[in-house]
Amino acid sequence: MPRYAHVTGWGMAVPEKVLTNLDLSKMVETNDDWIVERTGIRERHIANDHETTASLATDAAIKALEKANLDPTNVDLIIVSTSSPEHIFPATACLVQDRIGAVKAGAFDLSAACTGFIYALNVAAQAIQTGSAENALVIGSETLSRLVNWKDRNTCILFGDGAGAFVLQASNTPGGVLSAVMRSDGSGGDLLSLPAGGSRLPASAATVADGQHYIHMNGREVFRFATRVMSQATQEAVQKANLKMDDIKVIIPHQANQRIIEAAARQLNLPMERVMVNVGSYGNTSTASIPIATCEAIEKGRLLAGDRVVFVGFGAGLTWGAAVIEWSGPILAKRKRRLPASYRAWARMRSILNRLMRYVEGLIWGRLD
Ligand code: ACO
Repeated sequence: MPRYAHVTGWGMAVPEKVLTNLDLSKMVETNDDWIVERTGIRERHIANDHETTASLATDAAIKALEKANLDPTNVDLIIVSTSSPEHIFPATACLVQDRIGAVKAGAFDLSAACTGFIYALNVAAQAIQTGSAENALVIGSETLSRLVNWKDRNTCILFGDGAGAFVLQASNTPGGVLSAVMRSDGSGGDLLSLPAGGSRLPASAATVADGQHYIHMNGREVFRFATRVMSQATQEAVQKANLKMDDIKVIIPHQANQRIIEAAARQLNLPMERVMVNVGSYGNTSTASIPIATCEAIEKGRLLAGDRVVFVGFGAGLTWGAAVIEWSGPILAKRKRRLPASYRAWARMRSILNRLMRYVEGLIWGRLD
């Protein structure tokens, strides 16, 4: 019997602190008119000292689990797509696994920049469709504010922090993720990069002094690339799902720049009413932008159960891709799960207990040596 991967839960989390264009104009030589005209961005959310990629991811994940009425102990797979992971390792996905108490889940990070959420969605859907997972959590989470040079007006006006999460569940009912395309072109890797801090250029006083730990971007080239691939990838994914553009209720693109989104809509001959745009309120939250925009589309009644939606994105790598989903909504569980507020407390207790047991085991083995 064929298995389908349905999106049954969704959630988002953004920091409380808002940075407006006016605030930015006091930090670098820029102004609200320029930023709005060239990007459509009016404000973005910025993490405080206590908010991190894992904490935002955990908040979004708990909301998605609550929506799906799914207990974290039933999650088999957690993928966190991010370009601002907490560490090179351990994976941010493992931190989330520990914080929600997903005791039987495999967890890993996926790095495909702003396209990452589409890649992660596809990988999780494949795991469900092939029977290797029943329930998966796909999370896009970023704190790019930590990687931006706040003195560089070319980049600091663009990015914001946030997270979005989907729960994917197996079902024999047709629908869910219908198709996906994933593409890359590493020859354009230098157009958008964070040069230092990896094994090629390990952190050193010289790399820090050179500003190599900040995002470097050739904005014009990225813009040209983005306008070329967004419509192409959308059409490919729609064709692969054996559908026509008229079958698609709404397109939810990566929210990088209003002009890029409008150019893609023009190429697809789509009125803007069929395209979800919220870049004005969040800036470019990279891999989190598609799930955040999805949450808002649902809230505004623009995406309902049974509708077909295209997610399309592009980003560093270069990477780009699109996915077609027949929207499902929550599968109603027979009984109410644990209260979501308790997930975190149980997970914390379990985590402390695990650490304690490791400590005691260490003492015992230490004595035996
Ligand atoms: N405020 C005021 N003026 C500015 C600013 C600013 N913040 N930034 C640049 N300018 C100036 C430039 O210095 C330049 O001045 P000049 O003509 O005297 O040299 C002028 O404005 C035009 O600069 P451009 O770079 O040509 O501006 P453009 O219209 O290309 O817009 C932008 C720049 C917004 C960055 C655009 O190129 C863009 O959106 N590119 C795509 C970026 C993107 O999407 N990146 C994310 C990818 S996703 C990921 O993987 C993270």
